[in-house]
Amino acid sequence: MKVDNFRLQLGKQEYIPIVIGGMGVNISTTELALTAERLGGIGHISDAEVCYVCDQIFSTSYTTRKRKKYSYNAGNPDKSDIYFDLGEIAEAQKMYVEHTISQKSGNGAIFMNCMEKLTMRSSSETLQARLSAAMDAGIDGLTLAAGLNLRTLDLIKDHPRFHDVKLGIIISSLRALTIFMKRAIRLGRIPDYIVVEGPLAGGHLGFSPDDWQAYELHAIVKEVLDFLKTENQNIPVIPAGGIFTGTDAVEFLKTGASAVQVATRFTITKESGLPDNVKQNYVNAGKNDIVVNTVSPTGYPMRMLKTSPVLNYSIKPNCEGLGYLLDNKGKCGYIDSYYRALEAREKDQRMQITDQTCLCTGMAKYDCWTCGDTTYRLRETTNKMSDGNWQLPSAEHVFRDYQFSEDQRIQKPRSEEKVNS
Ligand SMILES: Cc1cc2nc3c(=O)[nH]c(=O)nc-3n(C[C@H](O)[C@H](O)[C@H](O)COP(=O)(O)O)c2cc1C
Repeated sequence: MKVDNFRLQLGKQEYIPIVIGGMGVNISTTELALTAERLGGIGHISDAEVCYVCDQIFSTSYTTRKRKKYSYNAGNPDKSDIYFDLGEIAEAQKMYVEHTISQKSGNGAIFMNCMEKLTMRSSSETLQARLSAAMDAGIDGLTLAAGLNLRTLDLIKDHPRFHDVKLGIIISSLRALTIFMKRAIRLGRIPDYIVVEGPLAGGHLGFSPDDWQAYELHAIVKEVLDFLKTENQNIPVIPAGGIFTGTDAVEFLKTGASAVQVATRFTITKESGLPDNVKQNYVNAGKNDIVVNTVSPTGYPMRMLKTSPVLNYSIKPNCEGLGYLLDNKGKCGYIDSYYRALEAREKDQRMQITDQTCLCTGMAKYDCWTCGDTTYRLRETTNKMSDGNWQLPSAEHVFRDYQFSEDQRIQKPRSEEKVNS
């Protein structure tokens, strides 16, 4: 049996049941998401650091303008003066979504991953601006991520597309789902899909740093499916985290899941936003090169390569220009760690900050090499070339491999070296 034997039904639409998960900051690019869409699946873009992302893609200058506006505050540990301009967030979000949506060419869909923990100094107002602008710009679906998202639906309940846009939630436990569902039912807006993300996923994890290993995706998915059945709720469930082959996906589809969400295998595709040298590091990584740590100021554990440059950061907090993780009081764990280390530093000594990192800068510069647990298996998926580098597969190749492979087989891309010679 293959993934292609199944379909995901969302409302009246039918999709190939493969969802490429959102990967901020601009790792799941427009091009990557569009590939899934063209092939009849679902691709995500992410709105993490959207003003900065627009600056890179469209040469706008949101970040420079904000940095200039608050330049007087650059040496100040108190960042409470710094705010995002809600109009600019909406403008950037619309630009990015329209740019992506306008290039749709298949029967699939483009969703946007929106993380609640991206608090941007005024968590409710900025999240509302992001979600509303994405809907205005025609996004097909919004996947609410990184947080319990208890008040998120209230922020958009008056939007004209509230009932028409597809709305999904990422949860890692039945408990998180039941809390979210209470509010959703009260608002008369149950989610259109539920992504159940297990402990092997990339990015931030919805588990404690000490016990993520005790959890297993199949078990959580079963709990969620059983719960929905008892509640008479027919909501598609989409497992994510560690699904490395088509056969892994089929195991979930056979037992009641409606689709799978995958990401790690796409990190090294040509369309992924990571720089090529970083993609090589991903493929070269062994099991022991991957760590789950607590350096993210969001408070969530995060999985990344141990060689991520962000783990050696001692840079001055960059909140005047970025500041995406500032909480409602203008605080971020990295600012505290930085100024503590600055005070403790002996003359001429290099500053060392080990407990936190400047994730805004790290993600923006592709210095935080966040990855899924299965990253060490990426070498099974492609060819080593004569110059020692790994061939980067196309996203279409990986998508099709998930769709059609059987018996745990992984189809490597056709060698480009042989084709050219
Ligand atoms: C490089 C990378 C970045 C990610 N960034 C995000 C993100 O910004 N927001 C989010 O909700 N999930 C993020 N994820 C999680 C994925 O969307 C997805 O659910 C998960 O990684 C699927 O598991 P897999 O990578 O084992 O296939 C990220 C994953 C990776 C590999």
